[in-house]
Amino acid sequence: MSSIQLLLANDKKPGIKNYTAYRANGGYQSVEKALGNMSPDEVTEEVKKSGLRGRGGAGFPTGMKWSFLAKPEGVARYLVVNADESEPGTFKDRYLMEFIPHLLIEGMVVASYALGANVSYIYIRGEYAWIVDILEEAIVEAKQNGFLGKNILGKGYDLEIYVQRGAGAYICGEETALLESLEGRRGNPRIKPPFPAVKGLWGCPTVVNNVETIAAVVPIINMTGDEYAKIGVGRSTGTKLISACGNINKPGVYEIDMTCSVEEFIFSEDYCGGIPNGKRLKACIPGGSSVPILPANLLLKTAKGETRYMNYESLSDGGFETGSMMGSGGFIVLDEDQCVVRHTMTLARFYHHESCGQCSPCREGTGWMHKILKSIENGTGKMSDIELLWDIQRKIEGNTICPLGDAAAWPVAAAIRHFRDEFEWHVTHPAEAMVGNYAF
Ligand SMILES: Cc1cc2nc3c(=O)[nH]c(=O)nc-3n(C[C@H](O)[C@H](O)[C@H](O)COP(=O)(O)O)c2cc1C
Ligand code: SF4
Repeated sequence: MSSIQLLLANDKKPGIKNYTAYRANGGYQSVEKALGNMSPDEVTEEVKKSGLRGRGGAGFPTGMKWSFLAKPEGVARYLVVNADESEPGTFKDRYLMEFIPHLLIEGMVVASYALGANVSYIYIRGEYAWIVDILEEAIVEAKQNGFLGKNILGKGYDLEIYVQRGAGAYICGEETALLESLEGRRGNPRIKPPFPAVKGLWGCPTVVNNVETIAAVVPIINMTGDEYAKIGVGRSTGTKLISACGNINKPGVYEIDMTCSVEEFIFSEDYCGGIPNGKRLKACIPGGSSVPILPANLLLKTAKGETRYMNYESLSDGGFETGSMMGSGGFIVLDEDQCVVRHTMTLARFYHHESCGQCSPCREGTGWMHKILKSIENGTGKMSDIELLWDIQRKIEGNTICPLGDAAAWPVAAAIRHFRDEFEWHVTHPAEAMVGNYAF
């Protein structure tokens, strides 16, 4: 296991969910440091130096995002924490909020101070109902101890944090749909520009950041941005939480320093512990359901024959032809018994169900792809359906208001690119395909 644990260093300590134990283990020192000795711009500068990239999926540099925030006089600014976490295979934010809620609250106080926000929100996935109570208790405790509310630590800075539950829509994780929902409307993504940094919540400048991103601000301020940047490799600085699931012996949430290889992550006892019953590794979706699936040969080594590592650059090496993405860190492993066509069909059903319906390519295309995939999976498809699928996904990608369209197209494209033989097998073996008697 990585010896560097910045976020999960204390997650197993007794009582860490509550303020007393959290504080006794060094909690809220970053608030004391930031509000005591640093200006808001200096906090942003540290985050810039750290090289921290957004952990919600796109990997955009956090410090740069903060520095884009418009700061007109007399206009409120907001920090909104994206805790929607509905991407299949992703459950790292849930772990952080459920077991170390004060880490998020602490990070929010520091981040809100840097951004000049006096009101901040946590927009949380509706299904995480019990975590709302955990967060609200942490907010009360932070207030009682002077780390939240009016005149924090006597430094003249005020902050209120509110938790808002979503209603169970994946699209509300897209930042502008989230803001619509937070304002009380249906969660339809907005056309950009304007970006939230200029016109976000209630029309005011807003930063939307993922839970893990904000939690990472705590160690950055404690250890300095320069020290944080020394961890990891290249532009993949610091640590990353990976939620691992599928055909592995030890599903769970792991904190890695992004220097470990994919092979080590899957097979080492420190992480996934290998594949049950000695089965072979077939494929993996390394960054949440939206990113391209990779067959075992391209997962463990890049197309150039180099070792593939668990970081932004290495996972995307080769582009979408032979690589994938770090995404949200939802790592889904498939063993030799899994059917990629069935798997792709299940994902297509999800994206069709979750499309908000504003743009035709996404609204119509996701349903169409699901229908065709279902037909192929059921043994009633034609060879020409494979080309049709390819054509549909290409026409969705890049032609929609928000990236949900891309997220629906990429898994289909990658499945055909790397597992075309399985699609063809379903067409040529309809009777076996119908009963799921796979022989590939
Ligand atoms: C359909 C869709 C769903 C998304 N869901 C989430 C989510 O659940 N959590 C999240 O942090 N980001 C999600 N994002 C990305 C957000 O739009 C946004 O980029 C992110 O919250 C920014 O935070 P970061 O810079 O800290 O990564 C989603 C994007 C799309 C297109
Ligand atoms: S891409 Fe899909 S989810 Fe996004 S705005 Fe268009 S229809 Fe809605």
